[in-house]
Amino acid sequence: MTTSMTGSMTSVMSTSMRTHTCGALRLSDIGQTVSLCGWVARRREHGEKLAFVDLRDHTGITQCVVDNDVDVRSEYVVRITGVVRARPEGTVNSALPTGEVELGECVVEVLRKADPPPFPIDARADEVDEGIRLQHRYLDLRRERMQRNLRLRARVNSAVRAAMEEQGFVEVETPMLVPSTPEGAREFLVPSRKEPGAFYALPQSPQLFKQLLMVAGVDRYYQMARCLRDEDLRADRQYEFMQMDMEMSFVNQDDVLAAVSHSVLAAAEAATGVRPPDIERITWREAMERFGVDKPDLRFGMELVELTDVFASTEFKAFAGAASIKAICVPAQNTVVDISSFGRNQLDRLTDRAKKIGAKGLVWLKVTEDGIESPVAKFLSESETAEILVRTGAQAGDLVLIVADSWMTTCEVLGQLRNDMGRPPVHEGPYRYVWVVEFPLFVGVSAETGQPKPGHHPFTTPHPEDIDLMETDPMAVRSIAYDLVLNGWELGSGSIRIHEPDLQRRVFSVLGISDEDAAKKFGFFLNPFNYGAPPHGGFAFGLDRLVAVLAGEENIREVIAFPKTQSGTDPMTNAPVAADPRQLAELGLRVLPAAT
Ligand code: AMO
Ligand code: AMP
Repeated sequence: MTTSMTGSMTSVMSTSMRTHTCGALRLSDIGQTVSLCGWVARRREHGEKLAFVDLRDHTGITQCVVDNDVDVRSEYVVRITGVVRARPEGTVNSALPTGEVELGECVVEVLRKADPPPFPIDARADEVDEGIRLQHRYLDLRRERMQRNLRLRARVNSAVRAAMEEQGFVEVETPMLVPSTPEGAREFLVPSRKEPGAFYALPQSPQLFKQLLMVAGVDRYYQMARCLRDEDLRADRQYEFMQMDMEMSFVNQDDVLAAVSHSVLAAAEAATGVRPPDIERITWREAMERFGVDKPDLRFGMELVELTDVFASTEFKAFAGAASIKAICVPAQNTVVDISSFGRNQLDRLTDRAKKIGAKGLVWLKVTEDGIESPVAKFLSESETAEILVRTGAQAGDLVLIVADSWMTTCEVLGQLRNDMGRPPVHEGPYRYVWVVEFPLFVGVSAETGQPKPGHHPFTTPHPEDIDLMETDPMAVRSIAYDLVLNGWELGSGSIRIHEPDLQRRVFSVLGISDEDAAKKFGFFLNPFNYGAPPHGGFAFGLDRLVAVLAGEENIREVIAFPKTQSGTDPMTNAPVAADPRQLAELGLRVLPAAT
C-alpha cells in the first residue's frame, strides 16, 4: 500500500479504537496485543476451523487468522484485536511490508456490514468503466493508487505553501463571486437573487484581484486558488482546478522565475525525494524552432532540422519558394512507435495526419543501406538528398519527414509529428522542466474586430526592445510572458504586467479597445492603478497538472478527489441537475426549451 508508517506516525494514528494501523506491524512487535481497524480486503478459508482475513486501511494490509465461523465479507468494516506473531516458515509474503507477521487469537467486531462492492477495490478497477468508478468514487478512492495520489497531492500542496512562505509570500483569499474578467475562457455565471438579471462570474483566475493586492502594498501574494472555466474537458482540463497563484512587486522576470522555481522544485522534491536540477530557460522562438511546440517535451531528441536553404533553387515543385522547410528524423530504434514495420499504409496515414494539422503534404524518406526510398526521390537532386542526410544525421533504418510551408505551420506540423512519434508515456522519467520565455505579445487575429488578440492577457508587458514595433509589426512583438513546462505539459503561465497608463493605452489601441471601452470594461481594475501601482509581475501553475505528472498519471482526474467526467457531469451526485422552478422564479429566470 502507500508508505509504511514509522513508529512515531503509528502513535499519532492510534485512537481509542485501534493501537496500530494496518500497515504498521513488524517482527519487532511480536508478542504484543494490538487492535486494528479497517476494511476486509480478502477472506480465504484455511482448513475447517480457520480463515485468513486481510485487513486493509490506507497504510497497508495485515493478515489476521480468525475463526471460520466469524461472518465477515469483503469490505465489512471491522475491528480486530489479537496477538502479533511471526508467520510460519514458508508463508512469509515479501511483497507486503507486514508480510513477516500475522495476527492470531483474534477477536473480531463487525463495525458495519457492507454490500458487495460494484468493482474490486484493487488494481483491477483500473480496467472498470470510468463512469462506474466516478459513480462510486468513495470506493474508487479506497484503492491504493488513488490513496497514493491523494496523499502525494497533499504533500505537494504543503511543500508549495512552505516554499512560498519561506520566501515571504502571504496567502490572501480572493472572492469566488466576481465580475466577468478578460482572460479569454468561457465563464460560469451565477445569477443574483437581489438583482434579477444580473450575474456574477466564477473566477477563471484571481488575476485582477492579485494585481490590486499589489496596489494595496501586499508586495508578495500567493494563494492556492480554485479556478473555474467552462471549457471542453480534456486529459489536462477540468471545469474546476487549483492554481498556485502568485504575484510580486518591484520585480523583473528573473525574480518571478526564481520564486516559482523554488516552490516547484521543493514540491517535486517532496513528491519524489529528489530535488531536480535548476530549471533551464529557452525562448519561445527557440522552442518552436527546435521542438515545433511552445511546450516542448525535452525527454527525447528528434529535434526539427532546418532545410530551407538546401532547397533555395530546387526543381521540386512542392518545395520551391517555400518560406520554411524543416525535417525530423525518426530513428530506427525509436521506442514509442516501431517504424521498422512501417509500410505504405502507415506512411499514408502519417501524411493524412500532417494534412489534418495544417500541412499541404508530407515528404517521407526511408533511409536504407543503399540510399533513400521515397515517392519523391526522383524529384530531389543528388546534392539535396545528400544534404538532407547530413543535416538530419539519418542512418539506415531511420525515417525522415519533411514539411514545407510558412514558418509557423512547418514548425507546428513537425512538432506534432515529433510528439506523435517520440513522446514517452507520462510515467516514464526523467522529469524535464523548462521555462519558455519571450512569448509573442499578440497571437492571431480576432474574428470579431480584425485586430490582434493578446497572447497571454491584455495587461502583459511588451518586450522593451520591441515596443516600437507595436503599431507597425505587432505580430513580431515579444512580451515579458513566460510558461513553465514539464515533460511536454504546460504547468503554468505568467508575465510582468503593465503598470503605466500610457503603455496600457497603446496595447489596448493595438487590440482595438478604445479608451471608452477600456474604461467601461476594465475601469474598476485600471483606475486603482492611478493611486500608485508598483511595477509587478506574477505567475500561476496548475496544481492538478503538476501532481498528475509527478504521480505518473495521464489524466488530471486521477489526482482530483471528485472530478467531472469528460462530458462535465458527476455520476456520483448527478450534477448538473435541473433547478427547482421556485428557485428559478426567485432568481427571475426562465429556462427556454433546448434548441433543436
Ligand atoms: P493560465 O490561464 O495560463 O494563466 O492558467 C495557468 C495554469 O492553470 C492551469 N489550468 C488548468 N488546469 C486544469 N484545468 C483547466 N481547465 C485549466 N486551465 C488552466 C494550467 C495553466 O498553465 N492568471 C494567469 C496567470 C498569471 O498571469 O499570473 C492564468 O490564469 O496549468
Ligand atoms: P504534389 O506535388 O502535391 O503531388 O506532392 C508531391 C509529394 O510532396 C507528396 O508526397 C506530398 O505529400 C508532398 N508535399 C506536397 N506539398 C508539400 C509540402 N508543402 N510540404 C511537404 N510535403 C509536401
